[in-house]
Amino acid sequence: MTKGKLLYEGKAKKVFETDDPNVLLVAYKDDATAFNGEKRGTIKDKGEVNNRVTNFLMRKLEQEGIPTHLVEELSPRETLVKRVKIIPLEVVVRNIAAGSLSKRLGLPEGTPLAKTVLEYSYKNDALGDPMVNEYHIAAMGLATPEELRTIADYALRIDDFLRGYLKDAGIDLIDFKLEFGKTADGTIVLADEISPDTCRFWDSKTKAHLDKDLFRRDLGGAEEAYQEVVRRLMGE
Ligand code: TMP
Ligand code: ASP
Repeated sequence: MTKGKLLYEGKAKKVFETDDPNVLLVAYKDDATAFNGEKRGTIKDKGEVNNRVTNFLMRKLEQEGIPTHLVEELSPRETLVKRVKIIPLEVVVRNIAAGSLSKRLGLPEGTPLAKTVLEYSYKNDALGDPMVNEYHIAAMGLATPEELRTIADYALRIDDFLRGYLKDAGIDLIDFKLEFGKTADGTIVLADEISPDTCRFWDSKTKAHLDKDLFRRDLGGAEEAYQEVVRRLMGE
């Protein structure tokens, strides 16, 4: 598989064409941004951690019957994925109050939620990814009601599986963000990444952050925490 032209460069990844029109190559960067790109920096070897952790977890999810865009890990930072049309929604799943939910609702971080919370945001940097509900999604045609039912069902199943799996690695899954895409034949698959950039991982015992909040909040130790996630999940 040869690496073709650069199709798109995002904040954390580059996407290249390949000689197969249905397959793209994703290359993960060490660049870190927060607050819609206002804060910028790097986390050494983040690209490797996020690529490997994403692929590791997506393989597990495939075994649980969740379709993903994963084709093949090529190298520590590069992965072949199915070409999909990204559905312009950020799907956030929350088990414990933290981050923007804590701010918005005045719930102290760490407050357990009696019911898992699903939130959608419209992926649009110029608008700051505004939160939307199923009515907005239907009104704007971002996804059909049937597609949204599939997405919600997958998101809750992913949460169920990951929560248990991570617990065994000594990690509490506080919340996370997913993106879904549609393949040429209309199948909805999990896309993007599942990594310390897109999840809140807390150490089950100490409740220490093992994720990008260390960077967002200038707490220090992000590089070590990302490596710790690899060690706990992949035993290295
Ligand atoms: P929030 O509390 O800031 O809304 O974030 C909820 C979860 O979504 C958290 O695990 C971090 C993740 N997230 C992203 O992956 N990308 C983003 O742009 C934002 C705002 C959050
Ligand atoms: N990566 C996102 C940005 O730069 C936000 C975040 O993850 O906090 O906008």
